[in-house]
Amino acid sequence: MRVTVGVSGGIAAYKAAELVRALQRQALEVHVVMTGAATRFVQPLTFAALTGHKVITSLWDDTGAGDGSYEASTEQNGIEHIGEAQWADALVVAPATANILAKFAHGIADDFLTTLYLATAAPVLVAPAMNVNMWEHPATQANLEILRQRGVRVIEPGTGELACGMVGAGRMAEPEAIAGAVLGALGRRHDLAGEIVLVTAGGTREALDPVRFLGNRSSGKMGYALAEAAHSRGAKVILISGPSALHPPPQCELIKITTADQMRQAVLERMTEATLVVKAAAVADYRPVNVSEQKLKRTGPITLELAPTEDILAEVVRRRRPGQLIVGFAAETENRMENGRAKLLRKGADAIVVNDVAGEGVGIDADSNAATFLTLTTAIELPEMPKRKLADRILDEILTLRRPRPLVLEFDEHVDERSRPEKTGPEKARQDEVLSQSVPPSSARRQLIVE
Ligand code: CTP
Repeated sequence: MRVTVGVSGGIAAYKAAELVRALQRQALEVHVVMTGAATRFVQPLTFAALTGHKVITSLWDDTGAGDGSYEASTEQNGIEHIGEAQWADALVVAPATANILAKFAHGIADDFLTTLYLATAAPVLVAPAMNVNMWEHPATQANLEILRQRGVRVIEPGTGELACGMVGAGRMAEPEAIAGAVLGALGRRHDLAGEIVLVTAGGTREALDPVRFLGNRSSGKMGYALAEAAHSRGAKVILISGPSALHPPPQCELIKITTADQMRQAVLERMTEATLVVKAAAVADYRPVNVSEQKLKRTGPITLELAPTEDILAEVVRRRRPGQLIVGFAAETENRMENGRAKLLRKGADAIVVNDVAGEGVGIDADSNAATFLTLTTAIELPEMPKRKLADRILDEILTLRRPRPLVLEFDEHVDERSRPEKTGPEKARQDEVLSQSVPPSSARRQLIVE
């Protein structure tokens, strides 16, 4: 998706560089448009270097011959604002000065940014930044009201010490918060902001000799989709992957490993920083006891002696720190639910994503998958869908584990009929009727739910 960042002339213009980086971290393509005043605060070159695109600062290409003649450039000309308006999926103006807000509110189009604002049908966001008196001025507030009513999203400034030395409202919102609002406007969730997600992906390989290994058909698609989804929802992602032909998702830290033991070491090393560990990798359960230094020759039947590898997921659970969520996968070819449930209990993870890897077109190496998200108390069916979509659904379910769950206390309530006051008249008749329709338990199970 594509975002145009409009920079107007205020001290906070330098923070727009951080905003550009924050948007790029979300895999968004960014263009920058500056007002003339903004170029007094920050050089367009800064943004050109960050974005890899030309920065538009004027409606006119007056960088031409210098002899007074106007030369239409293919890149920058009188109708470029229309092209930019169509290119952008969102326009965010940060910082937005009182002046730019006034121009937007009243439809004044006297430079590239204001013209772009009128020409675009994309969502528009403004992050005001100014002196507190200018912010509180009825003219500014009235302009903001006009813009809000028109659907412009105003990212409220914070309160604090301002560049002018005064204290009050008018500090531009933090770039990460602005980026979050942009993602929201683009319909992208940002609900994993602040999380550090460690994802394992792909299959591991256990060497038999210098050229052969024991491996499995895992492609890494599910794990890579999870990494990409977590990143696009605002998480910092550490992806520990076995050999895979896939392009690693941009902006994720990729640690490449080959064997189960290397995966174990990498996971144990990095798990302390993670708030969430998702183990989507297909880890080898056995490794050859002896690895031949030379290529094995065909000498007739051979028997391989295999030793079990460490169960990394179980070890991660044993070493978990408070608050860390741990989710595993279970690849099953039969008795999916029973095996999944047993694995959940055996490994002690918060949830296990059970998938049937025997089905046609789903599971290992396929582009789609169907799964059951299993916890001790729930089993959520996730029907067949592309792995990238499934990744988002899995993250949705993981996030519900973060929400405080009600505490359910169950206890036996002994009903002592003798201690109940004797009822009389119509009330007694009603009670008799209810009792006659139900089997009176000697003791009833009661639930106390503490939210
Ligand atoms: N796993 C692991 N370390 C291993 C084997 C598996 O961390 N040595 C993890 C996988 O990443 C996955 C989960 O454990 O999250 C279940 O993997 P799976 O292969 O389905 O189960 P196994 O534990 O290998 O059990 P089994 O082969 O008996 O089904």
